[in-house]
Amino acid sequence: MRQSVTVRAPAKVNLQLAVGPLRPDGYHDLATVFHAVGLYDDVIAEPADDISVTLAEPDPEVPLDGGNLAVRAANALAEATGMAEGVRLRLVKRIPVAAGLAGGSADAAATLVACDALWGTALSRDELAEIAATLGSDVPFALLGGTAIGTGRGTLLSPVLARGEFHWVLAVAAEGLSTPTVYRECDRLREAAGAEVPDPAVDDALMAALRSGDAKALGAALSNDLQEAAVGLRPALAQTLGAAAELGALGAIVSGSGPTVAFLVRSPEAAIDVAVGLTAMGLCRDAKRAGGPVPGAKVLRT
Ligand code: C5P
Repeated sequence: MRQSVTVRAPAKVNLQLAVGPLRPDGYHDLATVFHAVGLYDDVIAEPADDISVTLAEPDPEVPLDGGNLAVRAANALAEATGMAEGVRLRLVKRIPVAAGLAGGSADAAATLVACDALWGTALSRDELAEIAATLGSDVPFALLGGTAIGTGRGTLLSPVLARGEFHWVLAVAAEGLSTPTVYRECDRLREAAGAEVPDPAVDDALMAALRSGDAKALGAALSNDLQEAAVGLRPALAQTLGAAAELGALGAIVSGSGPTVAFLVRSPEAAIDVAVGLTAMGLCRDAKRAGGPVPGAKVLRT
């Protein structure tokens, strides 16, 4: 058996997040366009008798028991393969927690790849993706990376051919938001409005912008059905979103269920200007620069 495996997995933003009506199982059908960006968590997996997790930097918001998504991923892989070995997992977290950037999902995806290599279970990417879907709606995408359309709960993926690289600034809020709370608020707002919720569909203008690598068109096509709910729960986000034009960004959108706001900018130089501007205006706890698309979970070293 190997002594140690390190796997890196990316954060994501949703370039589009179209949310259908509430399903009887508590989820919503989605038409979403996932985009992996260059902000990463690492998972280091070492042989052990049982399954455990530690953090490189302590964080009271991250559970260290069986509720941790990385622990759940290791347990799910062990169960699916009949593996009796354990693993000691160490998480190097750079993706902010409860930020709408799928950090927990990145940890789960990285853990699946790390344990598969450590234990020599040698599952295919499709087999890993099947286990990933049982762990959370964003976990299969964290395995795949790149830019991809997600349907169903978000777990049915088809890669999108996107041309070029896009430059992002991620405005991270001081406090996270709970994903189920934001979906519930979205349902509540829709019920109050009384309008029928259409089946979600991918936006043609967004797909054309990705195919041609047109950042300006992409900025204009960004959309998120959860944005109104996230802003309702966190009114300060309206001001953050409103700063996009002033700062010269091509577009801004709440990432997933928020509260991170993703700013699309023209160039790495523009990203520095926007990050400095956001910080100077006191609109975020941290402004992180990242390019996309980037690959999904992959082994860094063994
Ligand atoms: O799948 P995951 O555990 O990440 O989902 C967290 C929560 O987000 C779900 O419990 C549900 O409230 C909401 N959700 C949803 N529809 C989706 C994905 C997530 O309602 N397609």
